Amino acid sequence: MSVHKELALDEVRKYHRDTAADGGFIPGTTEIWPSGAVLDEEDRVALVEAALDLRIAAGRSSRMFESRFARRMKRRKAHLTNSGSSANLLATTALTSHLLEDRRLRPGDEVITVAAGFPTTVNPILQNGLVPVFVDVELGTYNTTAARVAAAIGPKTRAIIIAHALGNPFEVAEIAQLAEDHDLFLVEDNCDAVGATYNGQLTGTFGDFTTVSFYPAHHLTMGEGGIVMTSNLALARIVESLRDWGRDCWCEPGESNKCLKRFDYQMGTLPAGYDHKYIFSHVGYNLKATDLQAALGLTQLAKLDDFIDARKRNWRRLREGLDGVPHLLLPEPTPNSDPSWFGFVITVRPDAPFTRAALVDFLEDRKIGTRRLFAGNLTRHPAYIGTEHRVVGDLTNSDIVTEQTFWVGVYPGLTDEMLDYVIASVREFVEANS
Ligand SMILES: Cc1ncc(COP(=O)(O)O)c(C=O)c1O
Repeated sequence: MSVHKELALDEVRKYHRDTAADGGFIPGTTEIWPSGAVLDEEDRVALVEAALDLRIAAGRSSRMFESRFARRMKRRKAHLTNSGSSANLLATTALTSHLLEDRRLRPGDEVITVAAGFPTTVNPILQNGLVPVFVDVELGTYNTTAARVAAAIGPKTRAIIIAHALGNPFEVAEIAQLAEDHDLFLVEDNCDAVGATYNGQLTGTFGDFTTVSFYPAHHLTMGEGGIVMTSNLALARIVESLRDWGRDCWCEPGESNKCLKRFDYQMGTLPAGYDHKYIFSHVGYNLKATDLQAALGLTQLAKLDDFIDARKRNWRRLREGLDGVPHLLLPEPTPNSDPSWFGFVITVRPDAPFTRAALVDFLEDRKIGTRRLFAGNLTRHPAYIGTEHRVVGDLTNSDIVTEQTFWVGVYPGLTDEMLDYVIASVREFVEANS
């Protein structure tokens, strides 16, 4: 390492220590965020080092992250993207590729998904001219069930795309079995559940594709970022093409002629020998991330196990501290699962003597941050009214989620003192209003 770089990084370390000092927790004054990035000295150094090296596009850190994360998540192939939403877009769009021949999804085909959740789990279905079929969720786990999915399967059903809700696995083994029995693709949106297991097996390893987000609220962060993973090499190749402008060539930037046939292809109606680097086999995007993001991802990845443990510990503290509080429905892990929690979900029972809004106002006044279970019932949002979709069964619980549910944080930046203040505040409000 050059002496100037070493000196610069030493200064970064000193700067980090200067800025890292915090004034301690003051109840009612210090913000208790529902989520956030936990960034240390090594993260700051990694980012600055990538900048000093001017690694401004995707390069060696991106490739290293892809291979390490794939290994950690037990998938053969990973493709880094600029967001979890882009990862979902790529996974869904890949299912429409002409390379899948008879198995490809075509406009009008149906995809089973969940009504209550994050919009960009569902949006790629609509963006590809496919038809979402919405099913309801359970209260307590906030996931749908295999029985609801089975009831939604019809003659046009071709795929299932569902997120593990706020870190809590859905019944993924049973739903993967349904997918296999009915020849459906399964995409697991694992953006909120990295490290969770179902029947002892990591979520994200049951379906054809899995996606992860690296936005700061998530289990590890790159600022913005996401990843698509699969163990199916043909699907991986399609994702790479779609992510990288739709090109047919698989050489990394800076590489050429890895296939030893760069000037020997004849595709479409192009002249024979047209440069393979510029032959496009998909109507693609550019959804790549940069090495600045990947460099941060690598230092974050080294701490992933600790982050997951802290999330579980924080969730347990809240769960035990709030146990028995009347009028609240507390969260439950899906049977046979070990969740990797994203948040702590509370539903105010519809017959409670106080409203969700009053409880949330009380907490927010005390600087205890709250969030909604994302969109709640998506079908009630302006964007989806008038779009082609089907609903199977009713969406009663999704409506209850829309009206009565919120969550507070469990992310690793929260201390026991903060969590105890959250518990005491909820208890104080409920006692005063019952
Ligand atoms: C379940 C789920 N899917 C997808 C996303 C989108 O990820 P991103 O914000 O990186 O686009 C989120 C974001 O929080 C999410 O919670």
